[in-house]
Amino acid sequence: MKNYKRTLVTAALPYANGPVHIGHLAGVYVPADIYVRYLRMRGREVLFVCGSDEHGVPITIKARQQGCSPQDIVDKYNNIISESFKGFGINFDVYGRTSSKIHEETASEFFKKLYDEGKFVTKTSEQYFDPEANTFLADRYIVGTCPKCGNPDAYGDQCEKCGSTLSPEELINPRSKLSGAQPIKKETTHWYLPLQDYEQWLREWILEGHKEWRSNVYGQVKSWLDGGLQPRAVTRDLDWGVPVPVEGAEGKVLYVWFDAPIGYISNTKQLLPNDWEKWWKSEDTKLVHFIGKDNIVFHCIVFPSMLKAYGDGFILPDNVPSNEFLNLEGDKISTSRGWAVWANEYLEDFPGKQDVLRYVLTANAPETKDNDFSWKDFQTRNNSELVAIFGNFVNRAVVLTHKYFDGKVPALGELQDIDKGVLAEIPALRESLEKNLEGYRFREALKDAMGIARVGNKYISDTEPWKVAKTDMARTGTILNVCLQICADLAIAFEPFTPFAARKLRDMIGSPLEWDLLGRTDILPEGHQIGEAQLLFDKIDDEAIQRQLDRLAAIRAQKEAEAAAAAAAEAAAHVEPQKPEITFDQFEAMDIRTATVLEAERVPKTDKLLKLTIDTGIDKRVIVSGIAQFYTPEQMVGKQICILANLAPRTIKGIESKGMILMARQGDGKMRILAPEEVLINGAQIG
Ligand code: MF3
Ligand code: ZN
Repeated sequence: MKNYKRTLVTAALPYANGPVHIGHLAGVYVPADIYVRYLRMRGREVLFVCGSDEHGVPITIKARQQGCSPQDIVDKYNNIISESFKGFGINFDVYGRTSSKIHEETASEFFKKLYDEGKFVTKTSEQYFDPEANTFLADRYIVGTCPKCGNPDAYGDQCEKCGSTLSPEELINPRSKLSGAQPIKKETTHWYLPLQDYEQWLREWILEGHKEWRSNVYGQVKSWLDGGLQPRAVTRDLDWGVPVPVEGAEGKVLYVWFDAPIGYISNTKQLLPNDWEKWWKSEDTKLVHFIGKDNIVFHCIVFPSMLKAYGDGFILPDNVPSNEFLNLEGDKISTSRGWAVWANEYLEDFPGKQDVLRYVLTANAPETKDNDFSWKDFQTRNNSELVAIFGNFVNRAVVLTHKYFDGKVPALGELQDIDKGVLAEIPALRESLEKNLEGYRFREALKDAMGIARVGNKYISDTEPWKVAKTDMARTGTILNVCLQICADLAIAFEPFTPFAARKLRDMIGSPLEWDLLGRTDILPEGHQIGEAQLLFDKIDDEAIQRQLDRLAAIRAQKEAEAAAAAAAEAAAHVEPQKPEITFDQFEAMDIRTATVLEAERVPKTDKLLKLTIDTGIDKRVIVSGIAQFYTPEQMVGKQICILANLAPRTIKGIESKGMILMARQGDGKMRILAPEEVLINGAQIG
């Protein structure tokens, strides 16, 4: 393993077109923050870089929907998102914006150098153009009928109804979202980075050189490389983004996935205008990208190829810990449907409980596979882990120290086997904790930290100092001394995971934040005065959980209602295929006539059948018909209808039915009577 001097940690720049939710927190920001807090605690030189990703088509669409400018949108969400991060104690050294001047300069210069050095290829192709709005149309700006499911409002890149990935060419009757006009094909030229030229180098660097990367990351990279890389467009026809800085590129901007990762560099520059290069161009710097799985290709293939093409000493990531996705109550998180727990709303709904969410998201982190967040699990982990183990242990230790020793750390007397056993467990947990944190296994690391709390809680329950105090104060003192050292351990070990509680605990017992002390038996010296007991965590009651579940249930109910309505509409529209051909004689054999309903009543004990007495012009007769769901007896009386008169009689519910009423029936079973357009005599022949 390389010996680095410093670590540059980046967290994926969130799109500034909506608030961040628990999926983002669990996938990227909480693990990145845990890692950085740990490194800082260990005294390593570290820089934590993030910021808003403020370009791209979805932002322009959101602006259009809300009748404001893209800048308004990104201003709004940049604010909301950065406040959420602060609220959760995720403290970046810099939180920049890709709409900033320094970013525009940095990204333009980056493009320009590659352009000047001939690192791009150009390609001219036909793309959809809106003749009324006089602009090329991004895939998202084209809607039309889905060729797979017939949804009339599918997008040029995807049908949200059936989930198919589409290209705009596949849409039936495409139309522009801007003007509604039918788009035309027009030639346009773009710059492409020929990724295939970097394939061999990527294979050596990642597939040979980084077998230690997480298997989800390694596997995705391998399958991209095995599939063969293609030139990738780095420019777009759009009016929101970094303008392409070359002549003849009017109306073109850098593709958002070209400019956004450069944002890591511009944000570093913004913070350290004179010193940024040591973070990006020194082999002594370890670069680590925290991302979600949908970002893997960009951070492992595209951005590294860009940096390689640029040269000039830019370093490459040492690791790209990427998480899988977090689901919510068994369903995929969906921002458009509101199926999410938003960071900013959580902070309002659960003030002072940032640590609980950090804890639960880490305990359930989707590190190796997709995972689920449920409010019940959230409550259980709070009540039976944070409160009942961690909090309870600390509280007992602190309260008893006040009760028997005026809040002064008692002397450590002779150690018994149980004490020695416990004191030996902590250095072992520390070692595992360190390995797991260094190896980006944060779930496991949290188990180690929680292991320390479990050890402490079990120890105080087993030794029962409140009982020992009745007979042996010296022994009581030894036990509480051990407990208080463990509390001090917890205040260190939990700093990366639950920083608010860790700080509260340190303030409470006056313990230091020094990683090297973790596991020592003399962190708090004898006689050291500790503060009053305060609860680190409190219970979350059923009501608070129910409120969250109710909100989600409403969303689920709405989705189900929409799905049911859509299914019904689809069933209604279903048309049966034509039946086999018949001869004219077969048709002629049917005696179809007009008739009028004289009497109508429900057939007892059925809900579908009406008994109708009708005048056929030939006779008066009874027909039993299955139309009670569509017509009441009152509606039927006096109506002229059409009947098949010569159908063989059948007995239905004990009533002889002679003939059949002609009805039109659609896919969902809805039926309507057929009648001549104008009332005729009864017995008029039809055919
Ligand atoms: N905005 C992207 C997303 O949310 C991430 C951009 S990461 C960067 O998926 F590297 F491009 F900045
Ligand atoms: Zn579809």
